[in-house]
This record gives sequence, structure tokens and C-alpha cells, in this order.
Amino acid sequence: MTNDQRSGLIRLACDARANAHAPYSKFHVGAALLTESGEIICGCNVENASYGLTICAERIAFGTAVAAGHRRFLALAIATSGGHPPCGACRQFAAEFSDDLPILLIDSDQPSRISETNLRDLLPGRFKFQAP
Ligand code: THU
Repeated sequence: MTNDQRSGLIRLACDARANAHAPYSKFHVGAALLTESGEIICGCNVENASYGLTICAERIAFGTAVAAGHRRFLALAIATSGGHPPCGACRQFAAEFSDDLPILLIDSDQPSRISETNLRDLLPGRFKFQAP
């Protein structure tokens, strides 16, 4: 990932967060996914009155990217108030496409404070299914 890609990813994750539909939790999440071909695909959390139907920002980003034909990713950025890491479901969802995806955690209250992690550290022992 180049420096330009990194700063684009951070900016777009913060922008996507502004689109979150989170009237129930009021916890707004933005995600931006850098594809191998250099595109950036975004997602935000979309909540529902039937709470369990809520979809996380990260899974929206992955689903949108896959629907556009992408399968290989270079990095994921997530923007939240506090710089929180992704939930377990989103870790497993991301692990479908990458073993060791770099993940940038952005605290939207202090966007210059970014912590870097990766999927291998966040999800050891992930579930793998060998198709028969
Ligand atoms: N949320 C995400 O978008 N990503 C995560 O990894 C964790 C949680 C959303 C779901 C819900 O809309 C809100 O944050 C509070 O859980």
C-alpha cells in the first residue's frame, strides 16, 4: 500500500462513517477496503428496527466489493469513535478473502491517531471450510 492509498483509505473510511444508519445504537462505523487493483470500496453500518438484521460496516464493504468483482484486498480501514477493532463476525467474514489483511483502526475523534493491526492477530484459529 502506497502512502497515497493509505491516506485515501483513511479519509474514505471517515467519510463513509458519516453515512451510517445507526438510529438505535448511535454508534457510527465507516469502513474502506483497498482492492488489489487499487480501488477503494466503502461501507457503513446499516441498522434495522428489527435489531438482529443490522449489518456491520465492514461486511457491507466486503459485500459491495465482491459484487463489483473484487476478491483480493490489500488493506481495510475502520473509523469509529474510539478506534474500535472489528467484531468477530466481521473478522471471520474478512478471513474468507485474506489470511493476513492489514487493518487500520481510526479514532474519528482524533483521526491522526491510527493503530495498525492485521487479521492474523485479530483472528487466530479462524474457521476454514474445505469444499468437497
Ligand atoms: N458495528 C459495525 O459496523 N462493525 C463492527 O465491527 C462492530 C459493530 C456496528 C453494528 C451496530 O450498528 C453498531 O456498530 C453497534 O454495535
